[in-house]
Amino acid sequence: MSTNISRGELKYEGKAKRVYATSTPTEYIVEYKDDATAFNGVKKAQIGGKGAINNAITAHLFPQLEQAGVPTHFIERLSDTEQRVRAVTIIPVEVIVRNVAAGSFSKRLGIEEGTPLSRPVVEYCYKSDALGDPLINTDTAVALGWATPEQLSRIRELALNVQAFLVPYFLERGVRLIDFKLEFGTLQDGTVVLADEISPDTCRFWDAETNEKMDKDRFRRDLGGVEDAYAEMLRRVTAPAQG
Ligand SMILES: Nc1ncnc2c1ncn2[C@@H]1O[C@H](COP(=O)(O)OP(=O)(O)O)[C@@H](O)[C@H]1O
Ligand SMILES: [Mg+2]
Repeated sequence: MSTNISRGELKYEGKAKRVYATSTPTEYIVEYKDDATAFNGVKKAQIGGKGAINNAITAHLFPQLEQAGVPTHFIERLSDTEQRVRAVTIIPVEVIVRNVAAGSFSKRLGIEEGTPLSRPVVEYCYKSDALGDPLINTDTAVALGWATPEQLSRIRELALNVQAFLVPYFLERGVRLIDFKLEFGTLQDGTVVLADEISPDTCRFWDAETNEKMDKDRFRRDLGGVEDAYAEMLRRVTAPAQG
């Protein structure tokens, strides 16, 4: 199974992961860290076990998304905290899909957190730590050369496919998917693929019965029980669908 592959030079280090080159130019190793940041890096801590949990959750979901018609960067999980992926050029546009008002959407629009949206809302942000990932629209991304109109329409289509797969997937496991953030990249032949991760760092998950938060908001808002929530999310993601 696991190919003989080893880490080469560190290509990028972000807030939650490190990306290493390998001896195959078209492949990288992603290492998931326990480091957690919020409010654009102002708040920093370690969440014990987070790297392994986010690696496992992403490694569980991406092959299923691939099956559902969403091409992804994922190749295989290599260890507790590492996975082998296809090297992509990241498109610097973060894609957020929202089902229920929360977080910056609630704040910006004065809509109470927890208000259901009558259809999914796709938002775009410029991926820039220096600027705090500001909200943009697709014209901005095209005008500034970050993506082509064709790439953006493909990204929207894929993001809604991810949405259509994940919402029932989580609901069958007792979790409401409130919103989530995706990153896409291009392969050398130009194919747009889903990259990065899908985890409690990048999604809002609320317990379907109690609406208890089971994601990074527990860390952002000092709600306690952060490690337990991440561990419970891994348990539910890997559990079979309920009744
Ligand atoms: N397949 C891939 N190829 C190249 N870069 C990737 C791939 N998947 C994710 N990345 C990038 O890896 C970097 C590290 O991830 P992360 O720590 O989450 O960064 P950030 O601090 O920007 O959230 C990010 O810039 C992310 O876009
Ligand atoms: Mg990230």
